[in-house]
Amino acid sequence: MVGLRINAERLLSRLDDFARLGATVGGGVNRPALGPEDRQARRLLADLGRARGFAVAQDAIANLFLLRSGGASGAPFLIGSHLDSQPTGGRFDGALGTLTAFEVLEALEDAGVATSMPIELVSWTNEEGSRFAPGAMGSQAFALGAIPEDWQAILARDGAPLTGELEATLAALADVPLRPLGQPIAGYLELHIEQGPSLEAAGIPIGAVTGVQGTRWLEVVMEGAVAHAGTTAATFRRDPVVAAVSAIHALSSVMAEDPEARLTVGRLEVTPGSVNTIAGRVAFSVDLRHRDLDRLVALEQTVRTACEAFASDNRCLCQITRTLDLPPVSFDERLVDLVEQAAGNLGKPVRRLTSGAFHDALFIARLAPAAMIFVPCRNGVSHSEAEYVEPEHVIAGAQTLLEATLLATGTSVIAPSRPSTR
Ligand code: GLV
Ligand code: MN
Ligand code: MN
Repeated sequence: MVGLRINAERLLSRLDDFARLGATVGGGVNRPALGPEDRQARRLLADLGRARGFAVAQDAIANLFLLRSGGASGAPFLIGSHLDSQPTGGRFDGALGTLTAFEVLEALEDAGVATSMPIELVSWTNEEGSRFAPGAMGSQAFALGAIPEDWQAILARDGAPLTGELEATLAALADVPLRPLGQPIAGYLELHIEQGPSLEAAGIPIGAVTGVQGTRWLEVVMEGAVAHAGTTAATFRRDPVVAAVSAIHALSSVMAEDPEARLTVGRLEVTPGSVNTIAGRVAFSVDLRHRDLDRLVALEQTVRTACEAFASDNRCLCQITRTLDLPPVSFDERLVDLVEQAAGNLGKPVRRLTSGAFHDALFIARLAPAAMIFVPCRNGVSHSEAEYVEPEHVIAGAQTLLEATLLATGTSVIAPSRPSTR
């Protein structure tokens, strides 16, 4: 099957071009979902797609699509990822999968390959969930075929309403036609960095991802009473900072008790936030992960019990809302096999693994066969400006995505009709 090569220089320079959009001084990227830098990235991708003759479209949740029909019609095979980032994110999380998908389309186009089904790039909206919760919004709405009613009220962390930001983002690409949300697809493949250390530690360039562990997000609000720091004795205090810190400290032991559990408080807001005033309100996020659904459910209960107990001990009120619920998922066995086969065809060592991070593929797996390809990242670091992927791993990942896409779509390319530039 191998015969078609991706253009490595073109792909690496595209990664540099997109990393400039929202570049941070620390060498990372800050491209919050639906913000100005995200819109610039969408604009660039849409323009690049048009220039190559691909059909560009967007839907009501601002997912962006670039279709290469390859002489075929019917349900497309989807490849892609996301372009939004964490506030101090890296340049590869999401962008790698989106731009390698674009390189796959371009390599097919360069060689004039006819495919047995159309191949379509997708860039999903708001995978990260750090500006608007929940994450993976674009793929969730695509899988549902509609935007859930209760998303109408969602506000960004900066106060901007989701509905307004969506409208402005769609309007920024007013020349790109709008199409209905959701559509039949033949399958989905997403390339991503591992965001963990196992491939690098084993010296293996390709991961065939068998599934994704479960995630739940909770928003905890503790309310006490604002009072004077100098005059209010301990017995009169209703201090939500003490309640929250005590609960978080107690909960930090859950990972020692269960090494497979993950519990993170990544955001904590104290109001009014004055040095000489006892706070009236503390709000914090809790991110829970586990590959076992029963253990994930038990973890949530542990968090609820601890927060309520410490709030009550400090005479505070406690309210807990679940903002994201992603049960663990297993990917399509045949597609996972094809990823292994693709890597084998290229002579690349490959290992099966489960994803610790969540991904849009998790929702798309409910609609159609889906799987993922991982490549190593330095020291397993991600959601950080220090995130880095060796060029050789970028190239191996892109070549594997191309090969797996050819296998999954039943496209035979023994010798390309027009040689690619590399
Ligand atoms: C995705 O960004 C995650 O938090 O797993
Ligand atoms: Mn990602
Ligand atoms: Mn991420």
